[in-house]
Amino acid sequence: AKPYIYVTRQLPAEIIEKLRRFAEVGVWPSEERPVPRDVLLREAAKADGLFAMLSDRIDEELLSAAKRLKVVANLGVGYDNIDVGKATELGVAVCNTPDILTDTTADLTMALILMAGRRLGEALECVKNGRWKSWSPFFMAGTDIHHKTLGIVGMGKIGEAVAERARGFSMKVLYHNRHRKPEAEKRLGAVYRSFDDLLRESDYVVCLTPLTDETRGMFDREAFKKMKPSAFFINVARGAVAVEEDLIEALEKGEIAGAGLDVFAEEPVRPDHPLLKMKQVVPLPHIGSASTETRWAMMERCAENLEAVLSGRPPVNVVNPSVLQRSHL
Ligand code: GLV
Ligand code: GLV
Repeated sequence: AKPYIYVTRQLPAEIIEKLRRFAEVGVWPSEERPVPRDVLLREAAKADGLFAMLSDRIDEELLSAAKRLKVVANLGVGYDNIDVGKATELGVAVCNTPDILTDTTADLTMALILMAGRRLGEALECVKNGRWKSWSPFFMAGTDIHHKTLGIVGMGKIGEAVAERARGFSMKVLYHNRHRKPEAEKRLGAVYRSFDDLLRESDYVVCLTPLTDETRGMFDREAFKKMKPSAFFINVARGAVAVEEDLIEALEKGEIAGAGLDVFAEEPVRPDHPLLKMKQVVPLPHIGSASTETRWAMMERCAENLEAVLSGRPPVNVVNPSVLQRSHL
């Protein structure tokens, strides 16, 4: 019998067709609303593979009940929505979609830097709301980007792609990472700094770390206090890497100048969230990798990863390769 794959969101027919060539496929029939927990649990219990979104919680409860499950293909590079330790213990391969979204996410990061520094969100609202009175010297005057210091926290592939773009803006690039990247230092002219020194020296602090036990809450009150009052905090990683109450406080007290946020501790962010009320905050709805081209590539990659694992071949991307070794893939 063909394996059964459950897809937790309505996807284009082409992608579903691709899956149908080697599997029975069930789909949660909404493009915008996440699958309800009870449906997800029921489907996972009979699935060999899950095609999952970042909004699905693939936790111990789900994994323990999913007796047939061999693979979870997550549509994204991050996988903090999945209990990878438990999956590994149970022999479930966890696949993600790195690399193909690197440039798209780096583009969005530059856009957020530009939006925050040059007050583009405010400017746009001003014109649309008919509040543009005249050209005047300090009207919507923001902060320059060029020749400023960019501090990248989390120098993975996306960080490197941001550094590359920043050079085009004549920015000075600092980075902080768990381990140094001599190759990136040479190729991109990025200079390593301790976390504290990076915070003190940067005009734009960009957060690109995965969310882990080590990074959760690393941007807290003390971190924001170390930043310059003229500096901006840009988060394109996960909301929980920053302590939102501390960020709000730093913005209110003028300890930092502004923020560009593509991610929030709770998503979708509530419309009455205090961060949305601040004019120096540019909020975006978690769209780092959201270009049509890249989302297609990500969906294709998930389908390929599912097909590989379910037909006994190694997938293109796997987060817990020890699972494959054990099953001799
Ligand atoms: C998006 O946040 C991703 O992890 O791909
Ligand atoms: C601005 O438009 C200028 O001409 O300086």
